[in-house]
This record gives sequence, structure tokens and C-alpha cells, in this order.
Amino acid sequence: MELDGKVVVVTGSGHGIGAAFARRFTSEGAKVVVTDQDATAVTAVAAEIGSVGLACDITVEENVHNVAELARSTYGEIDVWYSNAGFSGPRQPGELSDNGLWDLGWNLHVMSHVYAAREVLPSMLERGDGYLLQTSSVTAVTTQIEKASYTVTKAAALSLAEWLAVNYRPKGIKVSCFCPGPMLTQMLLSNNFPEGHPVLSMALRPEEVAELVLRGIGAERFLIVDSDSALGALRAKADDYDAWVDATAHPSL
Ligand SMILES: NC(=O)c1ccc[n+]([C@@H]2O[C@H](COP(=O)([O-])OP(=O)(O)OC[C@H]3O[C@@H](n4cnc5c(N)ncnc54)[C@H](O)[C@@H]3O)[C@@H](O)[C@H]2O)c1
Repeated sequence: MELDGKVVVVTGSGHGIGAAFARRFTSEGAKVVVTDQDATAVTAVAAEIGSVGLACDITVEENVHNVAELARSTYGEIDVWYSNAGFSGPRQPGELSDNGLWDLGWNLHVMSHVYAAREVLPSMLERGDGYLLQTSSVTAVTTQIEKASYTVTKAAALSLAEWLAVNYRPKGIKVSCFCPGPMLTQMLLSNNFPEGHPVLSMALRPEEVAELVLRGIGAERFLIVDSDSALGALRAKADDYDAWVDATAHPSL
């Protein structure tokens, strides 16, 4: 899909890759509605791109509706809804305790995407056109040893995207799931990796990520990745699941 003239909502667009998408999509001619739980950031990004925004917690269905209504009343029907907001929490190898992140992960990485689909699909189906985009993570297919609830809920996000694609692609709705590796945003930096840690040098900058996702949208590809890690893990699992588990197991556990 070409984004020129399209009405696009990007959740989690106050910071990180969401803000980079808002800027990049705007430069393609899209009318981007900003939304994030950080009110100051929403005001700043919306002003920067010359658009509107709504600060809210996107895990609340009524808030999803309010964001959609703002987009409709400002620009008209929504062409693209990008569910990108996420939260990964602290690194806790081997930790399965209920630290509040299970519910948050489920509500943020799955239910907010469900609410968005419920909100925009009726009008998209009527028009036989529309785009549901979601940011999951490479962890959805490779696992992240230090973050159980994040890994599991991101895998659920990928599974939801698959379900949406299988159900609605035949009806003209495009669905893509972005499964990135490390990216240089506050989410990654909050892990306090020591200077020189390899993850910092392999992480992509938000502007690079926005460019890559834009190409993925242009090609309307279901799975958008930024490296071979996700595809490598999928292939390895299909080849020999046990060998994949053994090779992935953390030596310190
Ligand atoms: N940074 C990485 O290394 C990395 C890797 C893989 C996937 N991701 C995913 O990329 C997406 C974007 O993350 P980022 O790296 O730009 O991080 P980020 O922390 O810079 O941005 C995430 C944004 O989501 C917002 N947000 C979080 N919870 C929210 C809620 N309940 N309601 C509304 N807004 C909320 C935050 O305020 C923040 O602005 C996330 O889904 C994340 O899981 C990030």
C-alpha cells in the first residue's frame, strides 16, 4: 500500500520507533494520528508532524474508540491502524512469578490489537480495503530467556496477526506483523546494558526501522523482519525442535 493521502493511526508513537513511523509516514504524505500514554510526548510529536494526537492508555477499549473517533473527525475513515505500543519490563532470567507483567503484556500486546481490529474492521470491510499492522518482536519466534511474559504475549501477538491475515486477507484487508530484533529506543536502553555490549552495536536506529517497515508496507508482506534471526529460528524449529531448544538454552540457568 502507498501511504500518500492515507489516514494512519500509530499507537505508542510518543517515543521510539512509533515516533519514527509517525515522522516517516507523514513524509510519505500520510495523515498520521499520534497516540501514546505519555501526554507530553503526544503533544510534541503531533506538533512536529503537524497533526493531532490523543494521550491515553491503549489497553482500554474505550480509549481505542476515542482515538479512532479523533482520526475520523479530523481526517475521515482510517486506512491503516498500526498497533505498535509495547512494554518489556526488567530482565529476570528464569522468572515466572506474577509480577504484573502477564496481565499488562496480554492487554497491551494482544487485546489492544483486538480492540483496534474490532474498531476499524467494519468500515475497512465495507470498503474492501484497509491495513492492520502490528509490532510484535523477534522474541515471538526465537524466545527471550530473561522475559517470560514478554516472549509469550509477543508470540500471541504474532498468532493474532496470523489469524487476522488468514480471515481477512481474502476480503481485501492487508495484515503485517513486524518482528524486529533490538532497536535503539528507551525500551532497549532501559535494560542498562554495559557500554560495548554487543546488543547495542547490532541494534537499529528508529529511522532505519521506519524505512524498513515502510518497504514492508509497500510490499504488503505479512512478516516484516529486520534480520535473518526470526526466519532462522522458524527454519531451525521446523528442522529439529529439540535441537533448537538445546541450542537456545541459557548456559547460566
Ligand atoms: N526496542 C527494541 O529493542 C524492541 C525489539 C523488539 C520489539 N520491540 C517492540 O517495538 C514496539 C515499540 O517499542 P520501542 O522500542 O519504540 O519502545 P519505546 O519504549 O520507545 O516506545 C513504546 C511506546 O509505547 C508507549 N506505551 C506503552 N504502554 C502503553 C499503553 N498502555 N498505552 C499507550 N501507550 C503505551 C510508551 O509510552 C512508549 O512511547 C513495542 O511493541 C516493543 O515491544 C522493541
